[in-house]
Amino acid sequence: MAGIDYTSLIPNNVALHENRRLQRALEDWQPKFLDWWQDMGPTGFQAKEIYLRTAVSVDAKGWAQFGYVRMPEYRWGIFLAEPEAGRQVNFGDHKGQPAWQEVPGEYRGTLRRLIVTQGDTEPASVEQQCHLGRTSPSLYDLRNLFQVNVEEGRHLWAMVYLLDAHFGRDGREESEALLQRRSGNADKPRILGAFNEPTPDWLSFFMFCFFTDRDGKYQLASLAESGFDPLSQTCRFMLTEEAHHMFVGEAGIMRIVQRACELMREHKTDDLRPHGGIDLRLIQKYLNFHCSVSLDLFGSEISTNAANFYTTGLKGRFEETKKDDDHQLKDAAYTVAGLDGERITVREEAALVSLNERLRDDYVADCARGVARWNEVIRKHGIDVELTLPHRAFHRAIGIFSEVRVSPDGRVISQAEWDARHGDWLPNEDDKAYIQSLMHPVTEPGKFANWIAPPPRGINGQPVDFEYVRLG
Ligand SMILES: [Fe+2]
Ligand SMILES: [Fe+2]
Repeated sequence: MAGIDYTSLIPNNVALHENRRLQRALEDWQPKFLDWWQDMGPTGFQAKEIYLRTAVSVDAKGWAQFGYVRMPEYRWGIFLAEPEAGRQVNFGDHKGQPAWQEVPGEYRGTLRRLIVTQGDTEPASVEQQCHLGRTSPSLYDLRNLFQVNVEEGRHLWAMVYLLDAHFGRDGREESEALLQRRSGNADKPRILGAFNEPTPDWLSFFMFCFFTDRDGKYQLASLAESGFDPLSQTCRFMLTEEAHHMFVGEAGIMRIVQRACELMREHKTDDLRPHGGIDLRLIQKYLNFHCSVSLDLFGSEISTNAANFYTTGLKGRFEETKKDDDHQLKDAAYTVAGLDGERITVREEAALVSLNERLRDDYVADCARGVARWNEVIRKHGIDVELTLPHRAFHRAIGIFSEVRVSPDGRVISQAEWDARHGDWLPNEDDKAYIQSLMHPVTEPGKFANWIAPPPRGINGQPVDFEYVRLG
């Protein structure tokens, strides 16, 4: 593996200077990326100095450097995790063959599509979040938003590198198209549904980081198992950054929950609107929404595409190499949720076509661990309420459950009941307006909006009242 080259226009550890054609392609793309960032990146803060971490290495002991940066001057670079000597394709029909350093010709189209679909989510989330800076509950949170944003930008670079390095002219065209689609735009939307939903407020932002970035974690982890080694190395490094995004989400919601509990005890009520808080019922509604749209991102329960990605060695299971089976799954079965008329049931399906559902199961278990940590905060306040994940069939737009109406506790219900009740389960117009009414910026170091508790500690050992963003 090459050392880190920080002197060239594009910081990298892929020896870019040795491949002039690729270097030129990326240097040609770079100003287009910067134009996109200026247009679609965080509105109103491009000239401010932000205390950000920048990837400077892929060393597990320390890969980041912290310091003040103006976002358009952020060093977006290309970093691949260290190669694994003698790595093989670890699953599917090619199991046991040496991992591919070049794209196998017969899988070119499929692999390109996988990379483009992942790549498209990265700029999409920056677009979804571009107005949030104006209403941040603190400088600490403002900085975390921008950290997530610049790293999603870097993830876009990571995917564009793969496209330009391995897919020739098609790859370069896809790289351009990644800068042309726009989240929520009717004519040129982003590829996946959840990435066309706006992120209009900070409660939504934290929920997005918890639920939707976690989908990212599971997709990246499956792609990190890929037999196509450059994709594996790329995704392995992206996962180290992704962990912070999920931290932002989990800790953000935890602080809102904590503040809700404090206000409940102080005012002896669970209606926090008169006191400017976000009550647990409202948090539950936002949770229901973001969980359900993120569950859709895993695709249909039964999917021949998913089976093909696996048998061809392109996309593995979560923690594929830690599993103790034949890694081919030709005769294996898997239990999948299904519908029997009006009843939600489970049934055995072939494991290969059930891989989307299996990944969704891993994801749901991970989400449940986070929700349990939020409930721990509520319990410690002596409050007898629990947040819960909605049933996986609730409010789905993709897969078998998109055909029925289901309550959060998993009952198939009539359209009439849905019409009457969905405003109790999902944020309604009144709820959204209330959350919007709380969104006022707090910009004094160490101060926090009334609806969220301060974090227990700052970033990178800095105090909570550190000037994380220099607004002056
Ligand atoms: Fe990302
Ligand atoms: Fe992320």
